[in-house]
Amino acid sequence: MRDLLAAVTALRERLGEIPQADERRLQDLKTEILGRKAGALTKILGALPDLTPADRKAVGATANVLKRDFEAAFAARERELARAARAPGGGAGGGADLTMPGRATWRGGLHLVTQVVDEIYDIFRELGFTRAVGPEAETEWYNFGALNFPKDHPAIDAQDSFYLGEGVLLRTHTSPVQVRTMERFPPPIRVVSPGQCYRRDPFDPSHSPVFEQIEGLVVDEGVSFVDLKATLGAFARRFFGPDTATRFSPSYFPFTEPSADMQVSCSVCRGAGCPTCKHTGWMEILGSGMVHPAVLENCRLDPERYTGFAFGMGPHRIAMVRHGIPDIRLFFESDVRFLSQFTGGGGWGRGGGSAP
Ligand code: PHE
Repeated sequence: MRDLLAAVTALRERLGEIPQADERRLQDLKTEILGRKAGALTKILGALPDLTPADRKAVGATANVLKRDFEAAFAARERELARAARAPGGGAGGGADLTMPGRATWRGGLHLVTQVVDEIYDIFRELGFTRAVGPEAETEWYNFGALNFPKDHPAIDAQDSFYLGEGVLLRTHTSPVQVRTMERFPPPIRVVSPGQCYRRDPFDPSHSPVFEQIEGLVVDEGVSFVDLKATLGAFARRFFGPDTATRFSPSYFPFTEPSADMQVSCSVCRGAGCPTCKHTGWMEILGSGMVHPAVLENCRLDPERYTGFAFGMGPHRIAMVRHGIPDIRLFFESDVRFLSQFTGGGGWGRGGGSAP
């Protein structure tokens, strides 16, 4: 019984170790003193039933007080360690360092061609145009016939177009949307129509078998070539910059008469001559013309009353000339090292960000 009291007194000394203990030491101390099987204090308390009632009372009282003191000391130290771990600078062995840079997260961005399509569409919307859509699988009539292509035109050949079945093919341009729009809506018409087109072209630096086009169509009474030039000139200045010059050269499309290709002064060298404009100072960006009377008639519009103009441009090509991109295939390879140059804020960002 004397031994037991001495042991309790000796144990009390060890309370002093607790406020200095780190997390591991604290666990070890807990096991050593209060451990359920071999804890020093546990053993003392376990020996109580063998003592005489008087001894049991004496030892039991001091031992139980000591047990409560240990439990309180352990709990206090545990709280202290937890608080230190949460604080800036961290506690012993691992807290949060608030000065550490955030984890980088990948932020997506719109593909350059999508951005160009949106931008072109926005400019025409400000000019009073609305958006029209048409199917990518078209009939020969909408893709060629109604657009005044002669029956023996080479584009109608399966060599040049992707046919899905008899008389049905993947549209080779967005011009069939002209016909569908004129059939459905009476003039005045002012629409633009972006979408994918397909041709049996090689996949090389300047061709892709699938590509984007934006079609434009204006039909009303008294629409003239002046409207065409003014509208497309206004577009070019808004898209390429206010000091952009435009020029038109004669061209040919079965569905427009007269037809003209529009060139803009090179946006890379401002007309001085560079590899992007092949040292001409000019870049061709679209085909256009006055809607052919035969096309109006195919859409049951009276060519004596109505006139119109149409245009078609390729956003891939426009993105290439604007940014001096040498190879159209870069747009299709999904290489983020290329694409993220144009995503304006996309790419690897500082922690937790989401797309704006
Ligand atoms: N559809 C023509 C092409 O694919 C472009 C165009 C559209 C030309 C409208 C004139 C008018 O080349």
